[in-house]
Amino acid sequence: METPSAAAAACCCPRRPLQPPSRLLLLLSLLLSALCLRPGLGLYTVNTVYGDAIILPCHLEVPNDLRFGKWKYEMANKASEFIAFRSATKKTVQYDDVLEYKDRLNLSENYTLSISNARISDEKRFVCMLVTEDNVFEQPTIVKVFKQPSQPEIISRATFLETEQLKTLGECISQDGYPKGNLTWFKNGVVLQPTEEAVINEQTKVNQTTGLYTVISSLEYKPTKDDTNAQFTCSVTYFGPTGQETIRSESVAFDIHYPTEKVKIQVLTERNTIKEGDNITLKCSGNGNPPPQEFFFYIPGEPDPIRSSSLYVLTDVRRNATGEYRCSLTDESLMDSTIITVHYLDLSLTPSGEVIKQIGEALPVSCTISSSRNATVFWLKEEQTEH
Ligand SMILES: *[C@@H]1O[C@H](CO)[C@@H](O)[C@H](O)[C@H]1NC(C)=O
Ligand SMILES: *[C@@H]1O[C@H](CO)[C@@H](O)[C@H](O)[C@H]1NC(C)=O
Ligand SMILES: *[C@@H]1O[C@H](CO)[C@@H](O)[C@H](O)[C@H]1NC(C)=O
Ligand SMILES: *[C@@H]1O[C@H](CO)[C@@H](O)[C@H](O)[C@H]1NC(C)=O
Ligand SMILES: *[C@@H]1O[C@H](CO)[C@@H](O)[C@H](O)[C@H]1NC(C)=O
Ligand SMILES: *[C@@H]1O[C@H](CO)[C@@H](O)[C@H](O)[C@H]1NC(C)=O
Ligand SMILES: *[C@@H]1O[C@H](CO)[C@@H](O)[C@H](O)[C@H]1NC(C)=O
Repeated sequence: METPSAAAAACCCPRRPLQPPSRLLLLLSLLLSALCLRPGLGLYTVNTVYGDAIILPCHLEVPNDLRFGKWKYEMANKASEFIAFRSATKKTVQYDDVLEYKDRLNLSENYTLSISNARISDEKRFVCMLVTEDNVFEQPTIVKVFKQPSQPEIISRATFLETEQLKTLGECISQDGYPKGNLTWFKNGVVLQPTEEAVINEQTKVNQTTGLYTVISSLEYKPTKDDTNAQFTCSVTYFGPTGQETIRSESVAFDIHYPTEKVKIQVLTERNTIKEGDNITLKCSGNGNPPPQEFFFYIPGEPDPIRSSSLYVLTDVRRNATGEYRCSLTDESLMDSTIITVHYLDLSLTPSGEVIKQIGEALPVSCTISSSRNATVFWLKEEQTEH
């Protein structure tokens, strides 16, 4: 990719052969060109993807009396370094003994230089020089290298978060990019701005070997109950050869712990009413996360509360089990209560047993009811055949 810039006209370098031709003038123009080729006066920019070949066309018209072409690179505050030479008359190519370009160069007949396996250190200003008997033409090209960073990942994740507590939720990491990208955190797709509840710290590491950037952003987060199913993601925004790009991480949700604010006692029975002989299961629950596992049960007739899991069973209850049942958290901070009524029905028949009477004689029989509720009495007479 090449972008000619408008700065072309601003160059002070001689564009036409100088008259009259002389050795002295050639030297002079070499000096002159060295003076005027200040960094930042690039006319062309080549954007290359890391690892690809950098193709540098010379961008100069090849003069008829060309003797040779050369490529050199320039870096700020450093002497320029020649790397490749091609003789126009002998058609030979020579590469200078520069370690970082060893076996990476190919200078074609049209003076296009290709550099294989682009690295970050190739971000330099390369200059094509065409030298005739009496002149030197120069054309610089700026090389830019781009490396897409890895998809960001949320690592070192908290196993859970707690309301009212600022805790490290995780770290977002995006590796080996160039130029350096920026990380952004999102909650449910909305940018998380740094606040007291969301503390963000970004850190950058440079691999000394490759020159690539790894960015890490840690997020400390103070959640609320509403964050229970919140989806956290992060993204890396970076510059690629064609402009700004963004890659998102996978989303992550966290278990949010919060304290119990309410306890509830429930009576679990098969039927709606409880009568003597029934079993009663009491269930106590708290609305915190995680839910409390242990409770105190306060049972009528028991002097001390009973420590139990969320279920407590009363077997074969009698009428004296009627009363108020309570349960609380084990720190006795929150409590709930319920009333249980055990119904009963006592029947006594008078007289009872076998009574012998003459037929026609009156038999006074009474049924006494003692019950916890209004009862209706039905009489059933068993028919018997007489002997
Ligand atoms: C240089 O490039 C030319 C043209 O692309 C190719 O024919 C030649 O094999 C290359 N030489 C090397 C050493 O890669
Ligand atoms: C120069 O030569 C190379 C390799 O032979 C070719 O790929 C390229 O298109 C040529 N460039 C110009 C500007 O002629
Ligand atoms: C730097 O990158 C090289 C090549 O990818 C790798 O082998 C090395 O482990 C990296 N160094 C560090 C400190 O990450
Ligand atoms: C990263 O953030 C800085 C500062 O906010 C900004 O100048 C830069 O352009 C950003 N880079 C990208 C790739 O978005
Ligand atoms: C009450 O529970 C006991 C065992 O705990 C069981 O033997 C009995 O049948 C249960 N009674 C009723 C009415 O379910
Ligand atoms: C209820 O009375 C029975 C005897 O009828 C006794 O064994 C039991 O402990 C009493 N229960 C309560 C809760 O007072
Ligand atoms: C029980 O019977 C009495 C008298 O007949 C009546 O006043 C009362 O309302 C009844 N109670 C219930 C719970 O039905």
